[in-house]
Amino acid sequence: MITDESVREVIDSARIEDVVGDFVNLRRRGNNYSGLCPFHNEKTPSFNVNPARNIYKCFGCGVGGDPVKFLMELEQLSFPDAIRWIAAKYNLQLEEREVSPEVREELQERDSLIITNDFARSYFGDQLHRTEEGKSIGLSYFKQRGFLRETMDTFGLGYAPAARDGLLRAATAAGHKEEQLEKLGLIRNGRDFFYDRVMFTIHNLAGKPIAFAGRVLRKDVKAPKYVNSPESEIYHKSDVLYGMHQARQAVRKLDNVYMVEGYTDVISLHQNGVKNVVATSGTSLTTGQAKLVKRFTENVTLLYDGDKAGIKAALRGVDVLLTADLNVRVVVLPEGQDPDSYMQAVGSTKFEEYLEEQRKDFLFFKADLLLEEAGEDVSRRTAAIRDIGATLALVEDPLKRAAYLQQFSGRLGIQEQLLVNLVNKAIADRRAQSRKDQEREARRRQRSDRQAPHPPTSPTPSEEDDWDNLREPGWVNETDEPAEPVAMTAPVDEPATASDAEMDLGHGYQEKFLLYLLVQHGHKSYDDATSTSVATYLTANVADLLGDFDRPRYREIVHLVMAHLREHGRPPDASWYGSHPDADVRKLAVEAVTSPYTYSPNWQLKYGLRLSQKAPEENHRLAAEIFLRIFRMEKIERKCKENAAEISRLEVAGDLAKLRTHLRVQMKLDEMRMALAKELGTVVLSR
Ligand code: GTP
Ligand code: MN
Repeated sequence: MITDESVREVIDSARIEDVVGDFVNLRRRGNNYSGLCPFHNEKTPSFNVNPARNIYKCFGCGVGGDPVKFLMELEQLSFPDAIRWIAAKYNLQLEEREVSPEVREELQERDSLIITNDFARSYFGDQLHRTEEGKSIGLSYFKQRGFLRETMDTFGLGYAPAARDGLLRAATAAGHKEEQLEKLGLIRNGRDFFYDRVMFTIHNLAGKPIAFAGRVLRKDVKAPKYVNSPESEIYHKSDVLYGMHQARQAVRKLDNVYMVEGYTDVISLHQNGVKNVVATSGTSLTTGQAKLVKRFTENVTLLYDGDKAGIKAALRGVDVLLTADLNVRVVVLPEGQDPDSYMQAVGSTKFEEYLEEQRKDFLFFKADLLLEEAGEDVSRRTAAIRDIGATLALVEDPLKRAAYLQQFSGRLGIQEQLLVNLVNKAIADRRAQSRKDQEREARRRQRSDRQAPHPPTSPTPSEEDDWDNLREPGWVNETDEPAEPVAMTAPVDEPATASDAEMDLGHGYQEKFLLYLLVQHGHKSYDDATSTSVATYLTANVADLLGDFDRPRYREIVHLVMAHLREHGRPPDASWYGSHPDADVRKLAVEAVTSPYTYSPNWQLKYGLRLSQKAPEENHRLAAEIFLRIFRMEKIERKCKENAAEISRLEVAGDLAKLRTHLRVQMKLDEMRMALAKELGTVVLSR
């Protein structure tokens, strides 16, 4: 572990313009620099570097931070690795504190496994390029598939000869222990595990070889087409997506990842310029893989081969992506084509055009497919609609879900309310199920506690884990003052309240977040100079919108807070909410602070917002400010829409006097909207 002093020294030495300058062409502009943002695709520079404050900031996509954050985000480095990177750049000596022997051993073990795998990778590579057998069988195969030498190196392609002792001999001669080779699955029963196959290296995010896949070439053998390395200390299949290392920069930049099935599809697309592509390797997707994707983008496009049976089988696997709140789209390739063959057939321009044109939202795609299959058969149609409802229920973001619901009712030709009920029922079922699962798990744990009074302590988290917990972006800083352990009398894990269902439509969630801010941060100072509290700031700025609240009970609470401010001259603290005589106030307050959706991820998407965790003491101010801007924006946008509808109605009715009034209102609203949009676009998030 690097000592704190060392870390501080590195952070103090790092110059943002140097670090960014290693990746981005920067141009001086007065005291600052600008360039093309490496985090999103753009043609005109909106990426800014401010040497005075030692930060970067993109006004296009909203990212920003210090040199360490830049490296962590762009290169997907852990905190310690980012520190090491900077230390190497500036030739700083890092002081490392001794780690515990167990941790060191584990690190060394992982390192040495990777070193052995790396040996195997270069062995397979040599076999491919330097031996007669490899050249005539393996290399000619890859060439015939159109792979260039550069591509073969990028993906670590190789060849495992037919004899079954080559790797074992070479590796042991080079000092690799047989035990290690066995752990990695390279050797089994004293013989090479991979033989007579072309080899694909599976890399981790950092580009280290963690596993292999081998494909048979001969058609006559009964052996499976692909064999893979088994799970090992360095290879957890369910957390890996093939090609992510090679794809990650492009994925981030283009803010989308293509998912294909096959290794060769990834390689072929990459070589032809479609670099944001990974493979699921023919198995169904896991939560770990969804999380991995989410580190780089929220947008996934699945490329399906053009055969119906395959597509239907793949539908279920997508649930995992939806549950992770990813936006999923689908492209079905022409009949009989897979991504590789289609790319080879039409070339990259046409290929990309096709993807652009054919891209379809997954939920609509699934609905169309199921309904088409059901035809006029009533019971099959019902089953299809139920299935779609269950899938919709997986969409966590209530705003997104509401938007789907609206569009679906039109598409499916059923009443929106009916669909809402269906979805809410599915959500309730799912919650009940997960509650049951939790209870069962708790009982199980209790039982095993009784049997083993001293359960083993959990292993010490690694440095990375610690850091991961700290840098989770969000509105609410978990390292901020701990949530007041107030006397909240209402039970916390009460079943989903009736209000939840209604919440999903309209602005219920935003209003709930307002309450969250009031309870959690209301009593804190917003501006010391004028001794304004966060509660005063928030209530004053929503006062003109109270008539437009969707949930009357949140409006009432705002009124109560205002009355408290008037009467006592100071804001209520969290315990006031927790012990309020009105049970409803207590319950809603508890709900607001314990709700899993403290803010809408949709906002992040829509407004490109991200809060820095840099200055925890500032976060409640920022959270309040940004919340208000968005809250006002959404309410004003809605008013605009309503007013516009009224205007068209009045135009038809020919009521000129009223029309004039509404047109004036519209102008005023537009002005407000523009002003807010400007603020939102320029709000500086990292301090
Ligand atoms: P080519 O046939 O060379 O184009 O390879 P491909 O990678 O496109 O293979 P295919 O389309 O048949 O299969 C897609 C993916 O499913 C492969 O890349 C593998 O990850 C996986 N797969 C296919 N067959 C097997 C198998 O027999 N065993 C295992 N473990 N995986 C397989
Ligand atoms: Mn294929």
